Order: sequence, then C-alpha cells, then structure tokens
Amino acid sequence: MSTEVLDGLTIHEFSVPATLESEGGDDFAEMVAMRNQVESEILGTDDFSATPKELLPFFLDRFNPKRLFLARMDGRIVGRGVYEWQPEESATAAFIEVQVAQNMRRRGIGTSLLRVLEGAAAADGLRVIQSWSSHLPAVSDDVLEPPTGFGAIERNSAAARFAQSHGYTLEQVDRISRIDLPVDPALLAAKRADAAAHAPGYDIVQWEGRCPEEWLSDMAHLHQRMSTDAPMAAIEFAEEDWDEARVRNLDDMNMGGGRLNLSSAARHLESDQLVGFTEISLPEQEGRPASQWDTLVLKEHRGHRLGMLLKVANLELLQRVSPVTPRVTTYNAEENRPMLDVNEAVGFVPTAYEAAWKKTA
Ligand SMILES: CC(C)(COP(=O)(O)OP(=O)(O)OC[C@H]1O[C@@H](n2cnc3c(N)ncnc32)[C@H](O)[C@@H]1OP(=O)(O)O)[C@@H](O)C(=O)NCCC(=O)NCCS
Repeated sequence: MSTEVLDGLTIHEFSVPATLESEGGDDFAEMVAMRNQVESEILGTDDFSATPKELLPFFLDRFNPKRLFLARMDGRIVGRGVYEWQPEESATAAFIEVQVAQNMRRRGIGTSLLRVLEGAAAADGLRVIQSWSSHLPAVSDDVLEPPTGFGAIERNSAAARFAQSHGYTLEQVDRISRIDLPVDPALLAAKRADAAAHAPGYDIVQWEGRCPEEWLSDMAHLHQRMSTDAPMAAIEFAEEDWDEARVRNLDDMNMGGGRLNLSSAARHLESDQLVGFTEISLPEQEGRPASQWDTLVLKEHRGHRLGMLLKVANLELLQRVSPVTPRVTTYNAEENRPMLDVNEAVGFVPTAYEAAWKKTA
C-alpha cells in the first residue's frame, strides 16, 4: 500500500526481495545507489558505499530484522527510511535511518519518512528511537557536543538541524578513521613483539571466511559480550542473544555479500578459550577499502596488550591475503581511549564523525 504524502510523492513499505534477480531486485539496487550517493556527498568519498549484493543479506537478517520504506517521486526513489529492531525481549529501542536525495531536500520528505518510522516504533511499543548521521570534521566554532564531552559536530549541518527540530538529542560521537596500506611491516612486527611480551599466557589463532567449527561457541560468547561491552553512552542497546547458529548466520551474510572476513582471536592457553577477537571485512572488488569491524577483549583478560596484539595480527593477515587493498576504515566511540590508543599507534587517522541521536517518546 502506498500513500501520497506530498504533491506527487508517495511513501510505501518495500518488500525486500529474496535475491537481486527476483522481482524488486532492481528497486533494491536503486535504493542502494541513492544511499551511496547521499553518504558520498556528505563524506566526500565513496569509501562507505556498499553494493546491493553486500547489503541484501543484512536486510533479510532474522536476528536484526528491518523494514524498508521508500519515498518516490514520479516512480523514482528520492528517499528511504529504514526501521530496525532487536528481537531480544529486553529491547527498548528502534533504530532508524532517514535519507533524502540532495536535490529533493527541504520539501518535507525527510519529515514524512520520519513520521512513518516513528509510527512503526509506536506500534511496536518501542519508546526510544535512535539514529546515526555522518559528518565531516567541524570547521566552524559553532558545534554541538554530546553529554559524554567527547567529539563534536557542526551545529548547522542538515542532519543536526533535522534531528533537533524533531526532538532528537545528540548522545554520542563516533570517530571514523582510516589507515593507508601497506603499513610498514617493520612497525607491525615491532608492535607485535612488544605486545606479545606482555601476553605470555595467550596465543593468536586466525581464520579467513567462515568461523572454524571448534570456535563457534567461543565466538558466540564474544559477540554477545560485544553487544554490551563497547561504550554506548546513553544509547540503548539490548544485550544480544548469540548462539552458534547466529555466528553461522553472520558467516552466511558476509559470504552471501561476497565479503571475506579476516579474523584474529586471542586464545587463553590455560583454558583453551578465545577471550578476544577482531575482524576485518574485505570486499570482493579490488581497490575498495576493507572495513575494520568488531574488536573485543573480555574484561577479565584486559591489561595484557591483547588489543594491540589482535589488531597487528589482523593487519598482517590482511596484507598477506590482499596486498592490493588500499586502506582500512573503522568507527570508534570518541571516548573509547583504549581502542583509539591502539588504532593511533598503528597509524589510523581520523577522517570524519558519526553522531548518535536519541528521542524518547
Ligand atoms: C536530514 C535529511 C533526512 C532531511 O531531509 P529533508 O527532506 O530535507 O527534511 P525536511 O524537508 O522534512 O526538513 C524538516 C526540517 O529539518 C530542518 N532541516 C533539514 N535540513 C536542513 C538544513 N539543510 N538546514 C537547516 N535546517 C534543516 C528544518 O527545520 C526543516 O524544516 P523547514 O524546511 O521547514 O525549515 C536530509 O538532509 C538527508 O538525507 N541528510 C543525509 C542523511 C542524514 O543525515 N539523515 C538524518 C539522520 S538523523
């Protein structure tokens, strides 16, 4: 069903196709192209573009269900709203994205999409709504700072004006960083040797692609901890339920999108258990950047430089597997000093920021 909300503009819920070849596959690809264009225009790079093939499995993810709403003008997709929720019983929040094509802004399309998404949250009984927006580093002094005291964004940006005019408050700022490859192998070797000297009770295990059977249960535990242990400021995120099937589902989504996950994990020798991990996701097209995804060391095992050991080991693995990859990008909470320290020490530099917004109905 679609409703005409403004002159010539319709918003309708889009039924995500099972494959790109199915009916709706072309529309899905058009939606992804619009998303990529909006992000590239803001950040001045297509480093954060995704292909339809990569995104489709995540829109069909049963562990992170999503609904997609498309705004069309004369049949063309000019905006999108993504509504996501956690299936866990303790979940309190909906996660949304609103994007409008540059040449169609300030006509109320963003507001119309937002109303639809907020309506979906209300219908689901979710009182908290959270969203993220991308920003280049602020150039003026007129900035907005989150209550954490870390990071800032331009107060006059479209996203900040839009979010605030609709009652959302800035809760957290993430730093987006990049490292150009190759990293000097001598630097990595020196950092590895230094970190390893502080971690005598551990070794590093690595794999490419699907998680080996023997580590499935440990990885489920680590992913579950990741959902609670990363700094989230006042952003509400329910503890995720992870089991072996969910780890396999993640493997399937990555592989379905043509991405190769490179994993390094820290094994505690005494217990023979994995107590930390880090993942770099490699796209199938040469020349595109890799993405640094999760990194975690369990609280009980911190203080042994495992964070550094893991990061270095995985960068070394990346440089062996894909010497043509030009760079790696990553997101970290601006207040996450321990993780930023590790990243900065190997050569990551800040390039942009991501603002986390929250509204409580
Ligand atoms: C933010 C975004 C969705 C707004 O879409 P839009 O269709 O232009 O939004 P609307 O026309 O409904 O604007 C509603 C109000 O937001 C504020 N606003 C939106 N863009 C603004 C801008 N560039 N400058 C100042 N205020 C702005 C205004 O108060 C506006 O009302 P007004 O036009 O009557 O003054 C769009 O700029 C976009 O896609 N940006 C990139 C993605 C993004 O950052 N999403 C938001 C995540 S929170």
